[in-house]
Amino acid sequence: MAQAFGKLILFGEHAVVHGQPAIAVPFRAVSVKVTSQITTNGGIRIVSDQTLEELPISDERLSQALRVPIELALRHFQIDTIPNIVFHIHSTIPMASGFGSGAALSTALIRSLAEAIGKNIDHETLNTLVYEVEKLHHGTPSGIDNTVIVYETPVYFIKGQPIQHITIGQPMRLLVATLPHATPTYITVGDVAKLYSNNPTRIGGIFKTIGQLVEWARQALLEGDMVVLGQLMQANQYHLQTLTVSDQMLDTLCDAALDAGALGAKLSGGGRGGNMIALVTPERETYVQEALLANGAQRVIPTTLQ
Ligand code: PMV
Repeated sequence: MAQAFGKLILFGEHAVVHGQPAIAVPFRAVSVKVTSQITTNGGIRIVSDQTLEELPISDERLSQALRVPIELALRHFQIDTIPNIVFHIHSTIPMASGFGSGAALSTALIRSLAEAIGKNIDHETLNTLVYEVEKLHHGTPSGIDNTVIVYETPVYFIKGQPIQHITIGQPMRLLVATLPHATPTYITVGDVAKLYSNNPTRIGGIFKTIGQLVEWARQALLEGDMVVLGQLMQANQYHLQTLTVSDQMLDTLCDAALDAGALGAKLSGGGRGGNMIALVTPERETYVQEALLANGAQRVIPTTLQ
């Protein structure tokens, strides 16, 4: 069985598409598992469980998400004859919610194929293949999703540069709230690109400011300074609002988390729905969790940054 976890972006989403750094961590509470079985005929078949079938994407996009990673991997392994394999997919990652479901699916599928045909695939090669699939889904992805999902480590990421692993000085609690609605990432990324081209000086300045916040956040993570991290989350959320990727419900949930004692709260990922994160102390965790649910969060998943 092959597996890939989801991911959370802690700082720097959107600005990362425009060359600024961002920080992301694996999110092990959700995952895609793929089992493969060699058969005698039938070529490649993919069986997905109910979670996947319920996904709100058209059949065509779903089949592309499943087919392309396998095709790319077969080409990489220089296999011309289609092998007979049945893949069974079980995913607990909600789609289009900012958890990197697409990259995790591609990663688990390629790992599973490699196992089935007895080939090794290193992280770098896998990362390159998954990034190719991401380009089909997102248009101009920064590459942060595939990188954190393939390497399964907290990363400081700049588009096109070698991955930098980061150290988290002490374990910290984070609440992850999912919203009942989501916007495809290519739409929010496209809208931010339009804003940027209409006003390069102002929006470019915001990207740079977010980049600076990311540098400070990297240091605060290293030092385990939760108070500073919380403040940096606030500042990052403010700039994401200016980039128009927050929305009313995300703002409400961030305010509710802060009122209930969170140290910081912000959207995570593409925005306009999807998910948000709140940094909490053990004393306030239950209060913040209740406040998020009372204000419309669909689900709240606690996790530990470490
Ligand atoms: O895949 P999502 O929705 O978590 O968004 C990824 C983060 C963005 O910065 C918005 C896009 C990107 O390619 O980095």
